[in-house]
Amino acid sequence: MAATRLSLLALTMPFLVTVVYSERRGFRATMIRAEKAINFTQASRKSHERMSLLASRLDAASSSGPVSTYTQAPLQVDSEGFEFNMEFSIGTPPQTLTAIADTGSELTWVKCGACSNCTPLGSPYRPDTSTSFSTLPCSDRLCGALSASVRTCGSGGAVCEYTYHYGLELDAHRYTRGHLGNETFTLGGEAVPGIAFGCTTMSEGIYGASSGIVGLGRGRLSIVSQLKAGEFSYCLSDTSTTSPLLFGSLADMTGDGVQSTPLLAAGTYYAVNLEHISIGADTTIGPGTSFYGTLLDSGTTLTFLAEPFYTFARAVVLNQTTLPRVADRHGSEACFQAPGGDWRDFPGMVLHFDGAEMVLPATSCFAEAEDGVVCWIVLRSPSLSIIGNIMQRNYQIRYDDEEAVVSFKPANCDNL
Ligand SMILES: *[C@@H]1O[C@H](CO)[C@@H](O)[C@H](O)[C@H]1NC(C)=O
Ligand SMILES: *[C@@H]1O[C@H](CO)[C@@H](O)[C@H](O)[C@H]1NC(C)=O
Ligand SMILES: *[C@@H]1O[C@H](CO)[C@@H](O)[C@H](O)[C@H]1NC(C)=O
Repeated sequence: MAATRLSLLALTMPFLVTVVYSERRGFRATMIRAEKAINFTQASRKSHERMSLLASRLDAASSSGPVSTYTQAPLQVDSEGFEFNMEFSIGTPPQTLTAIADTGSELTWVKCGACSNCTPLGSPYRPDTSTSFSTLPCSDRLCGALSASVRTCGSGGAVCEYTYHYGLELDAHRYTRGHLGNETFTLGGEAVPGIAFGCTTMSEGIYGASSGIVGLGRGRLSIVSQLKAGEFSYCLSDTSTTSPLLFGSLADMTGDGVQSTPLLAAGTYYAVNLEHISIGADTTIGPGTSFYGTLLDSGTTLTFLAEPFYTFARAVVLNQTTLPRVADRHGSEACFQAPGGDWRDFPGMVLHFDGAEMVLPATSCFAEAEDGVVCWIVLRSPSLSIIGNIMQRNYQIRYDDEEAVVSFKPANCDNL
C-alpha cells in the first residue's frame, strides 16, 4: 500500500511543482528559542499542560461533531523555556514584534495598543500609528472562519470579536480577547497586505514579554494559508538558539532522504499515523492509531505516548539501558545515572510513520534532567500521543496543508 502511494506521489510531484510554484512566493523567517539548554522541570510542567489542553480540545471536538467546530488551543503564551519565538513586522511603517510560533494555533494575534490587563505589556503593536490598519467586519469570510464558540459580533456587525480561553476547562482568568484587524505583514523583507489577525485589547493570565502567537496551524485563518504559501517548513537546531522557518517555495525539499506521510484530519493540528516504534535493537509493535493519530507539535517540548503503548516502550528502554537507574523525576519514568553524559550508553529510537521513518539518535530521546542524571523525554499520556520539539531537532520538517502531507529529511539546520 505504502509503496503504491509513494510511487504515485513521485509521478504527480513534478507536475505540481511547475504549476504551483510559478505562483507561489517564498518567505524566510527565524524561530528563536528563549533558552539554550532545556530545563527538564519546566519542560515537563509545560508539556503536561499543553498535552492536557490539546487532548481536551480534541475530545471536545469528537463529542460535538465535525472537527471544524472546535476552538484552537495554543497554551504557551509565555516565552520562557523551550518554545520558539518568531520575529515579524506589522503595519506601515513596519512595527517589529516577537510572538510565539505555534503549529497548534490557527489565528495569529498580538497585544494591541493599551491592551488592558496584558502584563507585561511589552512592546505592543500600535494600530493608531499604522496607515494600513483597518478593522474587519463580521461579514468578512475570515471572521466566519473563527469558530462559533470564540466569535462575537460587535457594533452592529462592524467588528468581529474573539475570546480564546487558554486554561483548562474555560478558566475565567486565562483568556485573550480582541477583534480582527486587516494589516500588512512583513516577513523576511517581503510585505504582504490584507492579512487578517487578532488585535488583542484585553487578556488575563497570560505571562511573558512575547507579543502574542503566530498561528502556523491548519485552516483558512492560519498565516500559512493567508500568505498563500501553502506549505512551510522548519528545522530545529540543537546547537543554535535560532532555526530557519521557511514558507512557500522556500519550504520545498528535494533530494535523497526526503520521506512523506499523510496528514490526518484533526482540525487545526498536524496529526500523522505513527504505526510503530523501534527502540535500540528492539521493535515494539504499534500504538494502534487513536482516532486523531499522533500530533507533531512545535509547542510541546517533551514527547507523549498513549497507553498501552507507553508502558511497553518504557520497558524496552529500561531493558536496553545498562546504566544504573535512579528515581523517577519530573514525570519521566526512565531516569539513569550518567556521569559525564556518555550518549553511547543510551538507545536511539526509530519512529515508523505510514510510509516514512524518522531515525532518532539518543540525544533526541534523552535529556539531562539534573547534574549527572539523564531521563527519557517520553512521558505517559492518557490518550493523546505528541511528538514534541526535542525529537524534531535536526530534521527539516515540511507541513503541507493543501496536499495533506508532512515530509521530512535529516538536515544540518544551521546551514539551511
Ligand atoms: C528550572 O526551572 C525551575 C522552575 O521553573 C527552577 O526552579 C529551576 O531553578 C530551574 N533549573 C535550572 C537548572 O535552571
Ligand atoms: C484588507 O486590506 C487589503 C489591502 O490593503 C484590502 O485590499 C482589502 O480590501 C482589505 N479588506 C477588508 C475586508 O477591509
Ligand atoms: C531484554 O533484553 C534482552 C536482551 O538484550 C532480550 O532477550 C529480552 O527479550 C528483553 N526483554 C524485554 C522485555 O524487552
